Amino acid sequence: RTPLPAGSLGNMGWDELQDAVAACQACALCQQRKQAVLGVGDRQQPDWMFIGEGPGADEDEQGEPFVGQAGKLLDAMLAAIDLQRGRGVYIGNAVKCRPPGNRTPEAAEMDTCRPYLQRQIELLQPKLIVLLGRAAVHSVLAQERPLASLRGRPHEYLLNGRPIPVVVTYHPAYLLRNLTDKARAWEDLCFARRLLADARR
Ligand code: URA
Repeated sequence: RTPLPAGSLGNMGWDELQDAVAACQACALCQQRKQAVLGVGDRQQPDWMFIGEGPGADEDEQGEPFVGQAGKLLDAMLAAIDLQRGRGVYIGNAVKCRPPGNRTPEAAEMDTCRPYLQRQIELLQPKLIVLLGRAAVHSVLAQERPLASLRGRPHEYLLNGRPIPVVVTYHPAYLLRNLTDKARAWEDLCFARRLLADARR
């Protein structure tokens, strides 16, 4: 296996990053993937960056994050706050390769993949990050606490010393199984929208 350099990936631009991810063999997830999935959306300093867990079967097939059932719900969540995939919105994942059987990525896999995510954040410089579910929370905030205790308040991601506001909410795949928490996810998105308005001031 080729180890990734620790920390951020220096001066890599989008094309190099895409190539590096496509060729990555740094963890065992590369063995069963059809393709690595970097991310999709607006790369010009988008207001919003949404981060999920990792590609599922549909994403592995199509090379784009959140294109299956959970993706349909994510699109509906975006539409509910007048957002659209690709317009001021970028969508990525904690890991870029599909975990076998759609299992949750292991901590070591997220650690190995994190430099790619960090470089994405550096290149995007989003105004706000929304973490979808526990894996994204683990990867970005290094938090293991229950998601319910992390939602409803602002967190921070430090990008070269500059704080980017971070909001935690439920993963759309979880919401498909737990309909009653949809209202909470809606509150989280409204909270995120308020934070973004504050960040713009
Ligand atoms: N679930 C995720 O976390 N990410 C995807 O891209 C698809 C489903």
